[in-house]
Amino acid sequence: MIAFPHRPKVGRLRVRLVLGLLALGLAIAPAAGAPTGGDPERGERLYRRYCAVCHGSGGRGDGPNAAFLEDDQPRDLTDSRYFARLSDEHLYRVIADGGAAIRGSRFMPPWGRTLSPAQLRDLVAFVRTLSMKSPLDGPPLTGALSGSALAQELGCPVCHRIGDLEPVAVGPDLTAEGSRVQRAWLVRFLKAPHPIRPAGHQPLWRSRMPDFRLSEEEVASLAEYLMSRRHEAPEPGPGSTPPASLTQRGREVFRQYACRACHTSAGTGGRAAPDLDGVARRLRPGWVARFIEDPQAIDSLTPMPNLGVDAAAARAITTFLFAGAPPRAEPPPDAGAVSKGAVLFADLGCAGCHRDEGAEGRKDIGPDLSGAGDRLKPEWLSEFLVRPTTIRPWLAGRMPGFRLTEAETRALVQFISDLKDDAAPPLPERLRFRGLIPAASIEVGRRLASREFLSCASCHIGGEPPEGSPEEWAPDLRLSADRLNPDWIVRWLRDPQRLAPGTKMPTYFSDESSGPEEILEGDEERQILALRDYILSLGAPGGAPEGAPTAPPRH
Ligand code: HEC
Ligand code: HEC
Ligand code: HEC
Ligand code: HEC
Ligand code: HEC
Repeated sequence: MIAFPHRPKVGRLRVRLVLGLLALGLAIAPAAGAPTGGDPERGERLYRRYCAVCHGSGGRGDGPNAAFLEDDQPRDLTDSRYFARLSDEHLYRVIADGGAAIRGSRFMPPWGRTLSPAQLRDLVAFVRTLSMKSPLDGPPLTGALSGSALAQELGCPVCHRIGDLEPVAVGPDLTAEGSRVQRAWLVRFLKAPHPIRPAGHQPLWRSRMPDFRLSEEEVASLAEYLMSRRHEAPEPGPGSTPPASLTQRGREVFRQYACRACHTSAGTGGRAAPDLDGVARRLRPGWVARFIEDPQAIDSLTPMPNLGVDAAAARAITTFLFAGAPPRAEPPPDAGAVSKGAVLFADLGCAGCHRDEGAEGRKDIGPDLSGAGDRLKPEWLSEFLVRPTTIRPWLAGRMPGFRLTEAETRALVQFISDLKDDAAPPLPERLRFRGLIPAASIEVGRRLASREFLSCASCHIGGEPPEGSPEEWAPDLRLSADRLNPDWIVRWLRDPQRLAPGTKMPTYFSDESSGPEEILEGDEERQILALRDYILSLGAPGGAPEGAPTAPPRH
């Protein structure tokens, strides 16, 4: 055990110990904000946002960014022997002033300008708990894939009511997107959004910008609208070419502040933040300089720390980042497209995920998923989540694609399938589906559904366009067999108002004498089963009515 290979480590430990004691000595007279009395629970939330990307969700120094830091590995914060020797003052100082304060790695950023003394104390309290519990104590912070946590992190409740799951803003603030990005980049991004922030906008959350299958015209109006949203601050025009010396100075300052701890530049560096090689094609120089100087002044929740870069240094770094590729001048906004874009932005539910000063209260963009486990078939659900299709072509909102992984899809399907309406009375045995669809029953159902009797096609799309305005249309019944649980169809036909209060779907079978007398001797229950069998037959191969066109395309 006490073999040579351990020697260097012991030596390093001793150096650390000496440094630690030194720091202790320096901290004999604690300054304002003595590092005691922090709240570890608040500290944990801060830790997830700012620290876990390097130190790992369980504190073991194995965050997703650690692999890119080469020799400057983040400290394992669960090392109880190491941390027992460090005082709270030392921890406070290293978190506030960064690795430089202990003559350690500059890849440990200083957080003292980003977080308040109270927040730093909360972090000290939380970091302490990491080395106090045994490795077997409880799951890591961002552990297993739970369907409800995943749904919340992806922003599903932003558009859907899902039981009592709270919607949270999961995307960047777009209030001044026009002062931030270049139009050409924005258009490309909206057409095919892909992750720009490798650790996510909320670090280590699974949030991502979904694909809305936008048309060219929709992309153009949304881009116009977002470009029209600007800060008051005037954007300096493309001035004269900056001197080469400024670029050189920028390169030096960039190195000095260890920006590469989080950002990739020229192919090396961290993956906790956007690749800075792309900045010249994506962002506007005025915004970049202001952001480097004080990121929280622009977006209070951004995980980018304020590193204390002054205005001149920020300008030098910006010049370096834009060297050789100043952004092109852009045409003035087109007022018509701007107002169309504003409407789209609201109707598509963009404001739900993106904090937005002007946005009103919550609006349900998609269907209520509260009892969706009773309604939807798991096989259909998993197809739909991976490749969403249009079911309600009259809605402006649409279900976006999230590029879900297989594991995520499985977790979400499980979660939605478990969303059951527990208050619903169980369906009597005689009304349950037994897997057989008798031809005679289908025929009776077809007659019942026809214009002669209940006239389902007056609202449901399918064959000819239904009567009335699109707001009164209902889903194509030919999709039901694949999509809906047969027993749910029966419950729906018996009492649609109970399942969807306020729905326009009529209650045909409210009491024992409401069904047509001339069919099945007026027996409501058998009529409902016949309608169910008819609906299920529509989805079967060859079951669709002859020559029926598919659902009308969107737009
Ligand atoms: C970009 C990666 C990165 C981020 C983000 C980061 N750290 Fe670190 N941290 C490091 C590195 C690297 C070290 C090792 C420094 C050394 O020992 O030279 C370290 C060391 C530490 C230490 C040990 C100091 C010591 O005396 O050995 C503590 C405590 C710490 N970090 C806390 C935090 C907290 C709290 C946050 C979030 C507010 C945070 N770190 C964010 C990279 C990071
Ligand atoms: C389910 C949540 C969600 C919805 C809904 C959503 N977004 Fe996003 N959006 C995100 C996330 C998360 C990001 C960050 C992506 C990244 O960094 O990889 C993002 C990024 C963006 C960006 C890039 C911002 C920047 O400067 O980096 C733009 C522009 C944008 N969204 C526009 C829209 C528009 C327009 C809509 C509506 C059509 C919309 N978003 C709807 C979650 C959402
Ligand atoms: C602790 C990690 C960390 C360090 C250190 C850091 N950044 Fe960042 N930076 C981020 C994160 C995370 C984002 C994305 C934040 C967001 O979009 O709100 C970001 C965003 C940026 C952006 C905007 C990029 C884009 O494409 O949207 C620029 C420019 C930038 N940082 C420059 C710098 C410079 C220059 C330094 C060094 C002075 C630096 N950063 C140091 C984490 C860091
Ligand atoms: C930007 C808004 C938006 C977001 C975010 C969103 N959805 Fe949807 N979703 C919709 C709309 C609109 C529909 C209706 C589509 C239609 O009928 O054509 C829908 C339909 C659905 C349906 C089909 C329900 C039915 O009865 O037909 C399911 C299931 C669903 N969404 C699940 C999810 C899940 C899971 C998430 C998160 C990963 C999510 N949605 C995020 C807007 C959204
Ligand atoms: C007055 C218009 C109207 C008529 C007539 C009508 N429905 Fe509906 N139906 C609706 C609406 C609207 C919905 C969508 C429910 C909702 O989301 O509120 C619906 C939903 C359904 C659904 C669930 C579809 C799905 O994919 O979620 C079934 C099944 C259904 N109706 C069957 C029928 C049958 C069978 C008839 C004829 C006996 C019929 N409907 C007649 C308006 C109508």
